[in-house]
Amino acid sequence: MKEIHVIGIGSGDPEQLTLQAVRALAATDVFFLLDKGEEKADLIRLRELLLARHARPGHRVAVARDPDRDRTAPTRGYAPAVDDWRRRRADVYERLIGEELADGERGAFLVWGDPALYDSTLGILQEVHARGTTDFTWTVIPGISSVSALAARHRTGLNQVGRPVQITTGRRLADTGLPPDVDDLVVMLDAHQTFARFTDHDLHIYWGAYLGTPDEILISGPLTEVADRIRTTRDQARARKGWIMDTYLLRRLGPAGVEGPQGASGPGSGAARPGEAGDVSGESGDGSASADGPG
Ligand SMILES: C[S@@+](CC[C@H](N)C(=O)[O-])C[C@H]1O[C@@H](n2cnc3c(N)ncnc32)[C@H](O)[C@@H]1O
Repeated sequence: MKEIHVIGIGSGDPEQLTLQAVRALAATDVFFLLDKGEEKADLIRLRELLLARHARPGHRVAVARDPDRDRTAPTRGYAPAVDDWRRRRADVYERLIGEELADGERGAFLVWGDPALYDSTLGILQEVHARGTTDFTWTVIPGISSVSALAARHRTGLNQVGRPVQITTGRRLADTGLPPDVDDLVVMLDAHQTFARFTDHDLHIYWGAYLGTPDEILISGPLTEVADRIRTTRDQARARKGWIMDTYLLRRLGPAGVEGPQGASGPGSGAARPGEAGDVSGESGDGSASADGPG
């Protein structure tokens, strides 16, 4: 039987790897790497670094080109475009597992952040398994998601006392607006800075780009006050690097305008509070990005 590990590798900082992930890396015979093209070479580099540090001698690496997704599809054509992309990706996975991994060997997919969050690897493996052309088992090793990294770097919780938190995409936020009954909304995969549509709401934003990497940028504050600065900073950073990954938390403030993340907002809690912490780090006062991130 072939065995696959789906390993969450954290969202940028090589030190976010769990001990479980380190053990799985060292037990892997073949790593499957999907090349997403030149512009995301930084992401491949993290994977290469992790292999250099933790994989065992003699391991093999099988690289395949990640099929391109049609990102021009309008909202109505979005689901079919994603379905088509997933099917083509499943073909690639099927070939990798079928041809590059021998019976009795262990293969691994290294997944950015946590495999359970906005990542298609688990669904695709299920699809390949269901095709029945090659037999394998698979295990999932959780990783530190960009959402956890964002909260940690801003020193805040994700929810307020006894309140729900929702994780969504920029596309969905643009389509449906702010969900009622949710005070804390984490937004991922937002290419259009959708937060800027909500500056007339009483919201606090915690924004982070390239979290965990030397290029990390953090900005937080009342949305009305910092929205423009985030837009400018984001545009500049994207132009400089050619790509950007950012995530943000939108927090509705309580009646007194005071948040209570996790009930731990008292003195000494370490939580960054609206109007108190402002920019946490990684972003200079003039709005330009600095390299003040972790290692
Ligand atoms: C396809 S999803 C993958 C999420 C990943 N599985 C996780 O657990 O974070 C990609 C989105 O995650 C967020 N993201 C991933 N890494 C990030 C980072 N280092 N800094 C900021 N946002 C990040 C961005 O919103 C990006 O658009």
